Amino acid sequence: SCRGGRGEPVYYTEDSETVRIDTTGEPVVTLHPNWSKIYRGETITVRCEIHGGDTEWDYEWKTNSNRKPQNLNEYRIISASSYNSGNYRCKGRMKSSQHETTEWSDSVTLTVSDNEPRPVLTVSPSWLSPGASVTLNCEVEHPSAGWSFYWYKAVPDLSEKSSSYELLPDGSGTAQDSYIIHGQTHTAGYVCRAGRGDPEYHTDHSQPKFVWSADVHSAASLTVSPDRVQHFTSDSVSLTCEGNFTEWRVRKFSEDGRLSDCRRMTGSTCDINTSKSDTGVYWCESGSGEFSSAVNITVQNDDVPILVSPVHPVTEGASVNLSCSLKTQKILSNVFFYHNDKLIQNDPRGELKISAVSKSDEGFYKCQYSGRESAQSWMSVKGEQDQNSVVHKVAATMPYLESRLAGFSG
Ligand SMILES: *[C@@H]1O[C@H](CO)[C@@H](O)[C@H](O)[C@H]1NC(C)=O
Ligand SMILES: *[C@@H]1O[C@H](CO)[C@@H](O)[C@H](O)[C@H]1NC(C)=O
Ligand SMILES: *[C@@H]1O[C@H](CO)[C@@H](O)[C@H](O)[C@H]1NC(C)=O
Ligand SMILES: *[C@@H]1O[C@H](CO)[C@@H](O)[C@H](O)[C@H]1NC(C)=O
Repeated sequence: SCRGGRGEPVYYTEDSETVRIDTTGEPVVTLHPNWSKIYRGETITVRCEIHGGDTEWDYEWKTNSNRKPQNLNEYRIISASSYNSGNYRCKGRMKSSQHETTEWSDSVTLTVSDNEPRPVLTVSPSWLSPGASVTLNCEVEHPSAGWSFYWYKAVPDLSEKSSSYELLPDGSGTAQDSYIIHGQTHTAGYVCRAGRGDPEYHTDHSQPKFVWSADVHSAASLTVSPDRVQHFTSDSVSLTCEGNFTEWRVRKFSEDGRLSDCRRMTGSTCDINTSKSDTGVYWCESGSGEFSSAVNITVQNDDVPILVSPVHPVTEGASVNLSCSLKTQKILSNVFFYHNDKLIQNDPRGELKISAVSKSDEGFYKCQYSGRESAQSWMSVKGEQDQNSVVHKVAATMPYLESRLAGFSG
């Protein structure tokens, strides 16, 4: 509306009729950054935006959250908590004409979780093979919502009964949720975590995961006594760390994915009175951060036979004896041996003798006696030397074939 005036003192006309001008603007609630689910401690801004026109607005909010925004267009939440969770709507009220308002905006939901997110790391493969690279994957909830990733290797810290974490090269804030390691030759442990936002919010560290080396040519090694992969329940088994270090711990990674330390260490030896839950992968860590090669241990019930097979890889060309044993005695006759589920020997003797092992002998073995089957265990075969020549390999093959045939004929 308008009116005119003239003279001194001023004489005014009446107001004209009013003309209504609708603003095109509809209010919209937006989140900055655009994450509808955030974690306790993160920072986020809830904004009311009204587009169109030069109109100046006052803002009103409606929310079912326990903390209410003030009447401003921006509500900045520093260090969010679940009290900030809720639906947010806003509307504008014209500064110049307080009874003119917009409609309420659509509502936007903000969820603040009080749980600290913990990423899950996977390491593949679990067992190192020469020349192969290792891939780490770090999985976090709401994967596409602006995370970057941090990659660490675990450094044993025996005094703290824990590990410290050392950033891997170029492992800080990668956009990719995977990280590739080339040329890893020893057992190693890894950890990841994720971060996002400004100021940056960090998740907890993942549980450590490991890549294991079966190769005993390292400064530290682990021997098992009795020297076999499979054991009965309540057998006494000793795991001994060897290498030029004074302090050791023996670690176990169980089938259910739990990491634990040997509780009964005497010097460098861990004694276990086996139970089913002792099945897992074992290795040593020294006080100065050395990892040993790793071994598999399988504990099985006393009512089935066990396969007696070596815990460490067998060298190509060497000879190896597999046998089958009951809790009470070694079985001396009528044993069936299986390689990768295929029956390979059924003769009256209780032993499978391979007098010159080759790479094709690698795989899962099990034995069967009197209708009862052992668990299966992996026997790994390693090459003689890296400088192994083709000529050398061919030469080694001939006696192997002959001896195998001799074995079958008895
Ligand atoms: C914000 O997130 C919503 C839902 O995920 C999506 O539809 C919208 O396009 C996003 N907006 C921006 C500006 O990224
Ligand atoms: C342990 O067992 C897994 C299969 O379950 C096998 O891949 C790995 O090579 C074994 N490690 C050793 C040292 O034999
Ligand atoms: C063991 O370590 C000590 C101290 O680091 C060193 O002097 C010694 O030569 C080492 N022994 C062997 C067999 O490596
Ligand atoms: C091992 O366990 C058996 C049965 O539970 C028990 O009798 C024996 O004393 C234990 N041995 C050791 C060394 O703990």
